[in-house]
Amino acid sequence: MKVPFIDLNSQYKEIKREIKIPLDNLFRKSSYILGEDVKLLETEFASYCNAKYAVGLNSGTDALFLSLLSLGIKKGDEVIVPSFTFIATALAVSFAGAKPVFVDIDEKTYNIDPAKIKKAITKKTKAIIPVHLYGQSADMQPILKIAREYNLKVIEDACQAHGALYHGKKCGSIADIGCFSFYPTKNLGAFGDAGMVVTNDKKIYEKILVLRDCGRKGRYEHVIKGYNSRLDSIQAIILRAKLKRLDRWNKKRQINSRYYSALLKDEKNIILPKTSKNLSHIYHVYAVRVKNRDKVYDELRKRGIGVLIHYSKPLHLQKAYKELNYKKGDFPVAEKIAREILSLPMSPHLTKKEIMFVAQQLRQVLNGQ
Ligand SMILES: Cc1ncc(COP(=O)(O)O)c(C=O)c1O
Repeated sequence: MKVPFIDLNSQYKEIKREIKIPLDNLFRKSSYILGEDVKLLETEFASYCNAKYAVGLNSGTDALFLSLLSLGIKKGDEVIVPSFTFIATALAVSFAGAKPVFVDIDEKTYNIDPAKIKKAITKKTKAIIPVHLYGQSADMQPILKIAREYNLKVIEDACQAHGALYHGKKCGSIADIGCFSFYPTKNLGAFGDAGMVVTNDKKIYEKILVLRDCGRKGRYEHVIKGYNSRLDSIQAIILRAKLKRLDRWNKKRQINSRYYSALLKDEKNIILPKTSKNLSHIYHVYAVRVKNRDKVYDELRKRGIGVLIHYSKPLHLQKAYKELNYKKGDFPVAEKIAREILSLPMSPHLTKKEIMFVAQQLRQVLNGQ
């Protein structure tokens, strides 16, 4: 049996009929950039997140980058980010000309450790970017408290957390700005690159609208040096169809992860994901921890199981950030998790049979069989 990491084809099959007419209409109109479908998606996604405004962009990376620009973050500023995340969180800070300042993570949730943030704050700090890693919210209350105390902005990196909740609030709508990626494998994924920003702040909303479209206010009126980060209508059509199914698909992911956990709970050589109180984990990634992770990874791959590693090297040890002069040992929790973490196949369409097979193979590998 082969189990891929994610089954995108089944998602396509579910929406195939629904997207046919809107896509045909679009091809007939031949109007491919922004437009009515993007507007509808923005309205629907803002409403889904309980936020006032949303702006469709061409990626999650741009969502973070343009958010930072909209807050006036620039060269000479510092922005706090967790060391354990996808590199785009930090790259966006660098693109804005500012310096990412890394902070270690919590060993249970793998999200930024709020207790370690204050030590990283300097006179130059302007913002914090908590990441809701794997689909589980960062602990936002203490983060927002610190931000208020030091007058910092908070941008949520919700690129892996579409529909996840923190104390009943949708991730992405808790702080100043929320950033989403619609990369194809995300819980809400396009058929290519796409992203979105949500906010309740009208000024931020208006700034990002201008930033995403070459600084344009009128057709040939350019008020700032903006960027091209427009969302394609094709992606908006796909995303509107998938958005209707997002809650059901997230629920399926939660059921699948409970099944994994039930099958693996008695295994000694493994640490299963833990959900904190008062929040819903939407399992973008179902990540376990094992010793000898690289060996386990290779063996499972040999057995046809599409395991992945999110992520094998924390950002402070990446060559891309060598100029920041961090060293091994600076963030021991992030380094330990990066050595042990292993993502099992996860998608809404994963079957019970597939989950049983993955769990059985994993148990065998862990016990040297
Ligand atoms: C946590 C996180 N931040 C940012 C991004 C960047 O999103 P994109 O790939 O759409 O640019 C991703 C997606 O890969 C992500 O997982």
